[in-house]
Parts: sequence; structure tokens; C-alpha cells
Amino acid sequence: MPSPLKRLNALVQDAFEASGHDRRHGQVVPSARPDLCQFQCNGAMPAAKGKGTPPRAVAEGVAALLRASGAFASVEVAGPGFINLVCSDPWLGERAREALTEGRLGVPVSEDGPVLLDFGGPNVAKPLHVGHLRSAIIGDCLQRLHRFLLDDRGPGWRGRGRVVSDIHLGDWGTQMGMLIEAVREAQPALPYFDPAFSGPYPGTSPVELSDLEAMYPAMSARCKDDPAAAERARAATRELQSGRAGYRALWRHFVDVSIAAIRSDFAVLGVSWDLWLGESDSQASIPDMLRDLESRGVSAVSEGATVIHLGPAGEGDGPPPLLLVKSDGGYLYGTTDLATLRQRASQGFARILYVADRRQSLHFSQVLAGAAKAGYLRASGRDVRAEHVAFGTVNGKDGKPYKTREGGVMRLGALLSEALDKAQDRLNSGGMAVDLGVEERARVARQVAVAAVKFADLANPRTSDYVFDLEKFMLFEGRTGPYLLYAAVRMKSILRKAEERGFRPGRLGDPAPQERDLFLRLLSLPEALERASEGSAPNLLCDWAYDLSGAFSTFYQGTNILREVDAHRRGHWLALTQATLRALELVLGLLGLEIPERM
Ligand code: ARG
Repeated sequence: MPSPLKRLNALVQDAFEASGHDRRHGQVVPSARPDLCQFQCNGAMPAAKGKGTPPRAVAEGVAALLRASGAFASVEVAGPGFINLVCSDPWLGERAREALTEGRLGVPVSEDGPVLLDFGGPNVAKPLHVGHLRSAIIGDCLQRLHRFLLDDRGPGWRGRGRVVSDIHLGDWGTQMGMLIEAVREAQPALPYFDPAFSGPYPGTSPVELSDLEAMYPAMSARCKDDPAAAERARAATRELQSGRAGYRALWRHFVDVSIAAIRSDFAVLGVSWDLWLGESDSQASIPDMLRDLESRGVSAVSEGATVIHLGPAGEGDGPPPLLLVKSDGGYLYGTTDLATLRQRASQGFARILYVADRRQSLHFSQVLAGAAKAGYLRASGRDVRAEHVAFGTVNGKDGKPYKTREGGVMRLGALLSEALDKAQDRLNSGGMAVDLGVEERARVARQVAVAAVKFADLANPRTSDYVFDLEKFMLFEGRTGPYLLYAAVRMKSILRKAEERGFRPGRLGDPAPQERDLFLRLLSLPEALERASEGSAPNLLCDWAYDLSGAFSTFYQGTNILREVDAHRRGHWLALTQATLRALELVLGLLGLEIPERM
């Protein structure tokens, strides 16, 4: 089913064509002046160019046809030839009955190819920080959005595999050698370090997460002023990468221990991934990739290192070359990313999104340019659309990157428990959720805390920085997660109260004048999702949800559903409330928010 806007487009395009003009001039957009009209078309001016007809005359010709279509309450030509459109209430009512009584609320299933989302990207043995949190929140929202648009509901669903998320763990850098070296210093007698040991290696890890987290910064600091230690760590990294069995076994423990912690941290947030692959998973394919690049003359050797030149003339201008193999034979971040991209493209993904900090822009522009030059962004005759979905920094109130009170990096766990405390305070001070049992109350507090943190993050245009201010995020009024949860809970309670009195949603009628705005918002859902997907812009979903609940409030202020005696009108209002709730639930669900039953 085409969206209402697409239908309007078709109507106006047909009218342009029927008046002898190119259809593409019949593009319709929501009005920039909602006080004057609902939609507008500005195509008469370009259509009139070079034809010797004044644009107003072109617009009048088109308008006459549109008036006869029956879809509009008014079609007016304004200024130099703007066509201002107001839909008729029966037309809006018809569109709403089509769209809102159906499971997808009028959003068509997208025909786009499969999408791979690379987000989260935490590093083994290093604490998660707010950057990883942003990547996880934005990435998870995009994952939910693409799953909905492509009708892929995850494992077991028929659409399985059209949307795949991969956490892309940082599990292969020099930090791994440092950790191996640190364990060797502390427990040199372990079999992992005995080259003569033939296995099997112990099944339980010699270290826990807390050990890793203490060992890594200590070793990293030492390597800075102890060249011998630094060299041993580098050697351990190289040996690990070239497959030394004991190091591999030890490394596996590091990874498993980290994954367990990361999983449980992110489970609190309700974020999950299909694949838990990492940088290390590209390792086996690197030699083949390097041979391929060399044999086709894509890579070059420069000062002992293997690189891909990205500048137009090979040297000089353009981004700096993508470094693939260091002069000592080691691989880099760009090497694993290029090899991973090549694998993903060959698996048939049509779009690949990297949700990562804006500070990695140079890295991704190099990897993507290198991939383009290597021809890796074309697979089975199709272009693969690979993009860096960059985001800004989370700052503290002092405008500097967010730190804890003690000045360290903010740990995800600590951040969430602070948010939880605040949510509980807020419920207490607002006298909310008072008549709920202990368990339900705790669940509501968690839902409010998570909604506050996620919504605050998603509501900003993703490339801008924002200030992390839990007080503000947790407010129940204004553009916040808690406000939107509350708006949805209020709709639920209206429907529940009605049901208690035996009133059920009836047939959705045509909009009354004070309901038009709400109808129009509901009918704009398909375009909101399309634009959010196109621009990887969760903030558009936040805006949409916020505007929808505003439109609902305005409608609701002027009605008294439960006191209404006209059963048709009451049934219509309840149907409208139910449709609004379903749309809000859908979009809040895409944002990763869970709505409480009561609050
Ligand atoms: N592990 C990286 C970091 O902590 C982020 C990974 C982003 N994804 C990628 N394919 N490079 O900065």
C-alpha cells in the first residue's frame, strides 16, 4: 500500500502529465506553512521554464484537475505559482482506515537489500566508555528500524538474515600482547608459556575480568617507559597473530571473560547482537586479501610498509594512504577493517553501516576509499553502500568529554546505576507508581532510567556533541524519554478506563477539524521511518514521537471521551486513541524504549 504522501504525489504527478508537463514536477511535500495548507507542490515554476507560459497559468491548469479529483477540500494557487493543498476529511479518513487498522500502520515492507550493522565495538579487557554506549544505543535503534522496514524479526522469522548486527569486538590489537606479557610475569609457570606443552590447555581462565582491567592499564603505562617490556609485548602480539597455540588458548580466555561481562552490561540496556565477531575473525583472510591487492597493483610498498595510496595522483593530495602492513610485518586497525569489509560485501550485504565515533572519521574514510579502489564495494554486479555513521562526543557539564566525579572514564555499569537511582527519586518525588508492588515499581524505574538515557542520546542529531545531564534527561516534561513513556501510559490508561465501562474502540471515522493534525501526523509515519533509515537519523524518530504525543494532547484536551454519550463518536475517539498508542508504541520500540503498563 503506498503511503498517503506517495498517493498525493501520484495524483499531482498525473495532473502535471495530463496538462502536458513532465511528471517529475509534481513532487508534493508537507507544507512549510501548516497554517495555510497541509501539503504543497512547487513544481509549476520549473515546469513553466522556457515554455512561454506564466508559472501561475501552469499551476492553475494543474489545480483545476486536482479540484476535480475529489481528494481535496481546497487547492489554491499562491504567489508565483505555489500549489497549496488541503486534503478533504473523507480522503484523510479513508487513508487512516487503510493504514492504521493494519499491522504495519501503513508502512510498506522495504525492497532494499540486506543490511549489516557494525556497532558497539567494545574492546577486550578495556572498560566500556560512553563512546561505546552511544554506538550501542544508536546502532541498536538502527538495527530495530531496519528489522521493521525489511520485516526481519530476527532468528526464526522468515525474513531471517536480511538485517544482521555484528559487535565487532576489538580483540586483536597490541593490548592482547600486553595482557599475555602481564600474565606471564605474574604466573610464568602456566602451560600457556611453555612452548613444549602439547595440550590440552586448562578450560578455566587464569584471570577474571577485574584482573584484566587492572593488568591492562598497568602494563600499558609500563610499556611507555620500559622499552624491553614494550618489545616483549609486541613480540607476544606477533606470536599470537601468527598462531602460537598457548597464546591463542590464553587469548581465548581473555575474550570469553570479556564477552560475558559485555553481554550482561548491555543486557540491562536491552541491546543485543546477532554476531559476536571481532577483529580477529578477519585474520585468516588477510594474507589472501594482501595477495589480491598486490597482484592487481592496488597496493604498493612504501618505506618497507604495504599501503594503498588514496590520493588522486598516487602521492601528495587526498587522504593519507591506508596502511595495511607495517615494516615489521604487523597488521593494523585498517587491515582488519578492510578484510572484514571484503568478507561482508561478498556475503551479499547491500548496505553496511559502521556506527562509530566521529573521531574515527579519517580511519573510515581511508578504509572505504581503499575498499572502493580495490573494487570491494561491488559484489555480484551491485554497488555496496558502506557508510560511517559518525556521532559526536558525550560531554560533561564542563563541556569536556564525560568523566566520573573521580575523573576516570565513565563505566557503563556505574552510569546505569546512577540513572536508576535518579529514576527512583523522580518516581518518588512525583508521587508516581505509588500503588504498584515492589517488583513492578523496580521494573518501572529501570524502564524510566533506560528510556531517559537512550532518548537523550538519540534525540540529538547524531553528529553533534551533547551534555550528559541525568537531571534533565529524567524530567517528566519536555522532550525526554520519561515524558514519552508517560504519554503512552496515559493513552493506555484511557483505553483501560473505557474498557472498564464497557466502551470499546469503534470504527475510525473521518477527522473532525480539531483531529486533522493528529490524523496527518499518524499518516506521516512511513516517510518519517524512510528518512530516518536513509540518513541513519534516530533523532527524526524522536521528533516524530514527540510531535505525535503533542498532537494527541491537543486533541485530548478538547474532548471528554469517557463522558461522551454518542456511541459512534466515542468509538471513533477510542479508535483514534488506540491507533495513536500503537504508533507511539511502534516508534518508541524502534528507539529501544520499553513502555510500562502503569506508572
Ligand atoms: N573497537 C573500536 C573502538 O573502541 C570501535 C570499532 C568500530 N568498528 C569498526 N569496524 N572499526 O574504538
